[in-house]
Amino acid sequence: MQKTALITGITGQDGSYLAEFLLDHGYRVVGMTRRTSTEVHERIEHLFGKIEIISGDLLDQSSMQAIVAEVRPVEIYNLAAQSFVPASWTQPVLTGEFTALGVTRLLEAVRHVDASIRVYQASSSEMFGKVTEVPQRESTPFYPRSPYGVAKVYGHWITVNYRESYDLFACSGILFNHESPRRGKEFVTRKISDGVARIKCGLATELRLGNLEAQRDWGFAGDYVEAMWLMLQAERPDDYVIATGRTHSVRDFVRIAFEVAGLGAYEPYVTIDPRFVRPAEVDMLIGDAAKARERLQWTPKVSFEELVEMMVRADVDRLGAHAR
Ligand code: NAP
Ligand code: GDD
Repeated sequence: MQKTALITGITGQDGSYLAEFLLDHGYRVVGMTRRTSTEVHERIEHLFGKIEIISGDLLDQSSMQAIVAEVRPVEIYNLAAQSFVPASWTQPVLTGEFTALGVTRLLEAVRHVDASIRVYQASSSEMFGKVTEVPQRESTPFYPRSPYGVAKVYGHWITVNYRESYDLFACSGILFNHESPRRGKEFVTRKISDGVARIKCGLATELRLGNLEAQRDWGFAGDYVEAMWLMLQAERPDDYVIATGRTHSVRDFVRIAFEVAGLGAYEPYVTIDPRFVRPAEVDMLIGDAAKARERLQWTPKVSFEELVEMMVRADVDRLGAHAR
């Protein structure tokens, strides 16, 4: 029988890759979207006709419960969240409502409608924040550095708690940063690839950034959605770190991006703008995904250098085609 999966946050970067992955694996895919006056679904437009869309909001308990009862999925992937770290300082309460309490609303809906539904919760390496161990693994203590990170810690623990309290098959995927040409333009990697492409195409002369020394363990989003699915296929529910095990600075990303575009050295184009420096920074993240490698047989395929090249080329092609 065909399996049904429900994805919250299907309009986001990960939601679009996960929907493609699940369709390829023969699933019926239903995506939950919130109502807006203008519908912007550019990441999933190419999937219309293959996926179903249902209206709901993480802020609304009754809509969550009604959706789970109507769709009757065997798997739910909870990807919806306020996911941009700087916005969590300007909208801390809303971030808590979406990113923290939204998880409880979903788990409550599952518990009341059908406790056999398997649930994936999108947790984050931001929970490690001011890291207490290098590299970070499942047992590393959390020390979040933003209201977003704090909200994700709540989401993680409520997932663990519902697993232990109600025997739900609920997994928390602690994913390190993952990027793609579909990444939102406010995140640093896409801001850089888009900015470099603009300079290349003569549409801009500079790129304004914040802290170039921050280091992240960056992987490709297409590789990471496979890990989400593998967690829900395992015999027992558990929590997993998903990462490449390599770390690079924002400066490394910038340098390679300018080289890929054939612009040479980045220094003449890049300006440091204090507006993009955070009140509290996560200086360095590097994950140890040994548990996922051993128990799920998951490994990332796209390297850091390939990722930078993929993103820069996609933006140069997009803007170049526009300019022609
Ligand atoms: P994203 O592109 O920002 O997508 C977020 C999604 O959540 C969008 O579809 C958004 O819908 C939806 N959403 C936000 N608030 C909602 C609400 N109240 N009700 C329903 N939907 C709502 O994020 P992403 O990069 O795909 O990340 C997916 C998830 O993984 C997020 O939970 C994120 O925090 C987490 N995560 C991401 C990374 C990463 O590096 N990408 C790493 C670790 C964890 P709209 O289109 O309507 O805004
Ligand atoms: N956004 C942004 N813009 N970040 C900048 C800039 C800039 O102009 N200049 C430097 N940075 C630095 C930030 O200070 C941060 O240290 C790093 O680049 C990465 O920033 P983001 O790309 O915004 O991602 P993030 O690491 O804060 O959060 C992302 O990854 C988390 C997983 O660790 C998001 O996808 C979160 O949702 C996710 O949980």
